[in-house]
Amino acid sequence: MRIFLAPMEGVIDYEMRNLFTQLGGFDRCVTEFIRVNDQLLPERVFLRYSPELERGGVTDSGVPVYLQLLGGSPKFMGLNAARVQVLEPPGIDINFGCPSNTVTRNNGGSRLLLDPQLVGDIVASVRESVDPSIPVTAKIRLGFSNADSLECIVDKIVEAGVSELSIHARTREDRYKPPAYWATVKAITEKFSIPIIINGEIWSIDNAYSALEQSGCRDIMLGRSALTTPQLAACIKARHSGSEFQEMDWPELLDVIVCYLYDAEKKHPDFVCNRSKQWLAFLLNAYPPALTLFHKVKRIKNTKEMFNALRSGI
Ligand SMILES: Cc1cc2nc3c(=O)[nH]c(=O)nc-3n(C[C@H](O)[C@H](O)[C@H](O)COP(=O)(O)O)c2cc1C
Repeated sequence: MRIFLAPMEGVIDYEMRNLFTQLGGFDRCVTEFIRVNDQLLPERVFLRYSPELERGGVTDSGVPVYLQLLGGSPKFMGLNAARVQVLEPPGIDINFGCPSNTVTRNNGGSRLLLDPQLVGDIVASVRESVDPSIPVTAKIRLGFSNADSLECIVDKIVEAGVSELSIHARTREDRYKPPAYWATVKAITEKFSIPIIINGEIWSIDNAYSALEQSGCRDIMLGRSALTTPQLAACIKARHSGSEFQEMDWPELLDVIVCYLYDAEKKHPDFVCNRSKQWLAFLLNAYPPALTLFHKVKRIKNTKEMFNALRSGI
């Protein structure tokens, strides 16, 4: 079983990828989506989203990071993929799942699922624009408003030559509302031979096994649960190999988070307050002391004050 860290715009950036892959269990990361409009983006944009490209396209722990492109023009997706290729990424992923109104209004993300042929054309253009040695993967939802075209969409994607496909098992209309419909993916894993990765609502080890069983997939992708339970991937892997895994307790985890925030602050001076609150809002679902800490810090707007509060714990 492989476990991938889901791309999350505004959350899973370079520093977070380093942290999560250091905590263990992850086999691959994907960058936040890079919006491709009708233009050729400069190399520096790709390097900004994936500083890993300067070091072989892997995190500090050696986990590959695929670069994710999002756009509705086969021509410009292909041209930009060709430019990315020069930076030698370990892989290129194409986003067909983004539900945001801004993106879908501008013919991008999950809206493209309404047009399976266009989805296929985009994948084919990216695939043909880069060397066959660079894997091209895609990430989709079950559909836009329903899953009626799922098989047709996957047909086009597979025909166009992707090596793997991640499926967030919800439609765009479902957005992030539970449940995720893992079992809907079963027909796809039964029909297609490329690896299909199941994603959505995997919050625990038991969820991981249910998702694998119901979908027929062999690999999973974790998104928000990585923020809630940072060592979930390592726990799932340990269970899979029949070994014991000792999770960090809250004080240990908080130390790791504070160290990460110190590092991240050097690059993004104003970001500590928001990132701390954002992350605590996830952690409080798994760690009761995080709730107390969240209430303590939620009105703090000053970085020094935030660090003092975090260091003093609860
Ligand atoms: C804040 C946020 C940002 C996201 N950004 C992206 C993105 O840039 N690219 C993408 O393919 N999916 C993105 N997603 C979707 C996630 O990758 C994932 O498919 C979704 O969260 C479902 O998985 P989960 O239930 O494990 O969180 C985002 C999700 C969230 C919550």
